[in-house]
Amino acid sequence: CGIVGYIGKRDSQDILLEGLKKLEYRGYDSAGIAVFTGQELEVRKSKGRLAILEEKLEGEPLRGSVGIGHTRWATHGKPSDVNSHPHTDNSAKFSVVHNGIIENYIELKEELIAKGRRFVSETDTEVISHLVAEEYDGDIVKAVQCAVKRMRGAFALGVLTEYEPDRLVAVRFASPLVIGIGNGENFIGSDIPAILEHTRDVYILNDGEMAILTKNSVELMTIDGEIISKEIFHVDWDLVTAEKAGFEHFMLKEIYEQPKAYRDTMMGRLSDDGRSVQLKEIGMTPDQIKSIRNVHIVACGTAYHAGLVGKSVIENLTRIPVETDVASEYRYRSPIITPETLVIVVSQSGETADTLAALREAKRCGARVLAITNVVGSSVSREADDVMITQAGPEIAVASTKAYTSQLIAFYLLGLYLADSLGTRDSEWIAEVLEAMQQLPEQVESLLSQSNVLKQVAESLAKHDNLFFIGRGTDFAVAQEGSLKLKEISYIHSEAYAAGELKHGTLALIEEGIPVIALITQEDLYEKTLSNIKEVKARGAHVLGIVNGGSEIEVGKSVDELFAIPKTLPLLTPALSVVPLQLIAYYASLARGNDVDKPRNLAKSVTVE
Ligand code: G6P
Repeated sequence: CGIVGYIGKRDSQDILLEGLKKLEYRGYDSAGIAVFTGQELEVRKSKGRLAILEEKLEGEPLRGSVGIGHTRWATHGKPSDVNSHPHTDNSAKFSVVHNGIIENYIELKEELIAKGRRFVSETDTEVISHLVAEEYDGDIVKAVQCAVKRMRGAFALGVLTEYEPDRLVAVRFASPLVIGIGNGENFIGSDIPAILEHTRDVYILNDGEMAILTKNSVELMTIDGEIISKEIFHVDWDLVTAEKAGFEHFMLKEIYEQPKAYRDTMMGRLSDDGRSVQLKEIGMTPDQIKSIRNVHIVACGTAYHAGLVGKSVIENLTRIPVETDVASEYRYRSPIITPETLVIVVSQSGETADTLAALREAKRCGARVLAITNVVGSSVSREADDVMITQAGPEIAVASTKAYTSQLIAFYLLGLYLADSLGTRDSEWIAEVLEAMQQLPEQVESLLSQSNVLKQVAESLAKHDNLFFIGRGTDFAVAQEGSLKLKEISYIHSEAYAAGELKHGTLALIEEGIPVIALITQEDLYEKTLSNIKEVKARGAHVLGIVNGGSEIEVGKSVDELFAIPKTLPLLTPALSVVPLQLIAYYASLARGNDVDKPRNLAKSVTVE
């Protein structure tokens, strides 16, 4: 989502709309603004692209020099007029725009309803406007502080009240927010592009910090009210660089957003003590879960590869048989679907025609369908029985990265949830896995800090025309994703092989100097995979081993180069081992001078069968 806010001497409507236009790349399913018109706070908002809101405002403009605006990428509640921001309280005196997720919103909503507050939307944001109204006692800053202290999650807020139209309040808690400093006017923006046209001097808020803006001042404090001072950050990016948050490409930005995507996808889905999984979005009763006889995972492209990992995870945790199919094949192979089949469709966009067709076929045959998708309100999400939203945020690069890894997180959560319901794993074991999962975001951060090493690897790979990825078990699943990523954007031909299968044919292609990337993260398969590595090395291959931390010495002797991921449980290695492969693909594409974000012949979302 995107936030923009203005307080000053000019008319705010056009400044807000221009700001939102610059943020449209971040989310575009609905938009809205709230402006203080001199008498009252007025809101205009609508579902759909910003142009629809603009049309509405042409007919009924909002005149006033303080306002907040929002462009939405739905996380709770489908895109609709009422679910659009800004949200207000029942008296319409308080108005809020919000990015992020309020984890405990259901709890807060119930409490507020009990106090007589009426809710009109399905969003988590609406609780904030009611909560601020409830806490208000003549000082908007105090009211926001009290409200924020009751909220758990990740959020950035802009708050405006009719009672104090000369003040605009902004808060940051794990969702980005910047304050733009002007002359006789000040701004808020979730991203720099929103305000870049007006000022290049900004304060970048940290977690737990807030800003109180008037047209002539910006006061910074913690949410506990402690005044702070901050250096002004001068932005020297152009608009295109600013949209990518300073990264050269959207793909690289999205690779670096993975720690956040992991956190956001886990957020609200763990119990308070973090020891068990709660999937409130899944409507299956315990009896329905117990009646599942088989699972089909159906998807295309990268989402299919996430489904291959999903198969291992669900089978390992629940012992229910799982098959993963490419969606374009599924429908035409007369799959054996019964009412006891759970069909899981995986789709970043939720609009892929092949996946949608497979979903409909599954429903026609009486299966229950669960969708894992990144887009609230997408076709897939509307037609499935249960929907798990991956909270990766909008993905713009054609080559999927953070959506894939968020799908892995969703599969881990789902697998653990099913295992808990079926009693196939005990609660202590589940708690240990969840503890390890919560370390993944930091582990990805530490991996990303070694991107230079991978850049060098990629630059030398970019000189080759063919290469191979090998692995066993989930390593083979990740190898397939690594190979696809490389093909998609570097146009280097590569193949992913089950390490043990090479000798049955493909070994004939191994010759002097050919690069082989071997994933070897599964302890119980070390010896077998090491033998396969020796087979390719004996034929002259140059092997890069990707290993789980702790096994560097053991594997190091058998490979030419080594890259160790931070140590994690064997079940979870895909969420780490794919990251170096994404970076290798990225840097190889860069070295070959390709258009990284828009590879030839491909589209982000394919809506034809
Ligand atoms: C297209 C994209 C792929 C993507 C696939 C499935 O082919 O180029 O990157 O993996 O569609 O997309 P979905 O939105 O269903 O995950």
